Amino acid sequence: MTPQPSPRTRTHLPKRTVSIIGTGSYLPERILTNAELEKMVETNDEWITSRTGIRERRIAAPGETTSDMAANAARAAMEDAGINGDEIDLIILATITPDHFMPSTACLVQTKIGAMKAACFDISAACSGFLYAIEIAQQFITTRTYNTILVIGVDKLSSIVDWKDRNTCVLFGDGAGAAILRHRAQGHGVIATRMGSNGNLADLLAVPGGGSACPITPENVGESLNCIKMEGRETFKHAVTNMVESARQVLDDAGLTGADLACVIPHQANLRIVSAVADRLGVPLDRVMVNLDRFGNTSAAAVAIALDEANRTGRMKVGDYVLLVVFGGGMTWASSVVQW
Ligand code: UT7
Repeated sequence: MTPQPSPRTRTHLPKRTVSIIGTGSYLPERILTNAELEKMVETNDEWITSRTGIRERRIAAPGETTSDMAANAARAAMEDAGINGDEIDLIILATITPDHFMPSTACLVQTKIGAMKAACFDISAACSGFLYAIEIAQQFITTRTYNTILVIGVDKLSSIVDWKDRNTCVLFGDGAGAAILRHRAQGHGVIATRMGSNGNLADLLAVPGGGSACPITPENVGESLNCIKMEGRETFKHAVTNMVESARQVLDDAGLTGADLACVIPHQANLRIVSAVADRLGVPLDRVMVNLDRFGNTSAAAVAIALDEANRTGRMKVGDYVLLVVFGGGMTWASSVVQW
């Protein structure tokens, strides 16, 4: 008898539509304003606002963990999708600020939301993590390995910010965003995704210490090696170039142009980056989701939170084309076109 291919190895099946059936987000209550930062480092509201567009950011409460924030966002996404924890087959969580090196933060979220049938893992792609995770999820659903996947982008950057470094401490905030992905026979979904990386640029944006290459020791503990270091100006240039290029590629894959997009949801690092990307793609700023003024750069959570806000405020109608585009440490970048 000829052996039959297992469901996981079939390649002749038609591509499945992978839809985002629910979104959610969570921001901590505590607001840290530019005025407060003026009292902490040599900075001022005018500099921060004009160079970045950021006016305030959220900071996790004492004892509030990455997994706590992720679970809150996940619950909101599950409610939006109308599913319970038992229906989730896989949890993919993107973060650079896990609760611990081990276990994965995804496993901690599993317990908090009661998704005990799910397999769980974390991924590390810095600010690009949420879109990387969406693409991984879409591959699992397309190959019929899993049906319902919870994707989370979350970061508690306040735990790795050097609060004495004005070059970085004014930029970042804490938060979480989540999406539920599922095959939907009659419906719209992820049309195309492109991911890219350039490890030659790894040093431009990094947390140099705390890992196995440079453990924190009694000798180096005062050097803040466990904090984010960034070459801002260089990172800025690579962000604009790679976001635009990957967005153009993915639009080309989808047979679309900037003019077809109802909404662009970019990484929320800097309003000048967002404006430059929108301008080069030929998309007016009023079709671009911006919330960095209220939340700062929340790394892996940023695009996920913005997606949830766009969803809840009705910025995307059924059938609309939406572009998600991200950039971060690694360096990494990604773009997705979704038909909502
Ligand atoms: O999420 C991952 C991706 N991240 C990004 O894409 C971030 C990319 N980079 C940026 O957004 C911008 O480069 C920054 C917002 C980080 C910095 O803006 P910039 O216009 O590139 O400023 P700069 O770093 O070139 O610094 C200009 C000046 C410097 O002073 P001098 O050397 O010209 O005298 C800085 O020391 O601004 C000074 N400066 C500040 N002044 C007041 C830097 N940070 C501050 C501050 N307050 N917080």
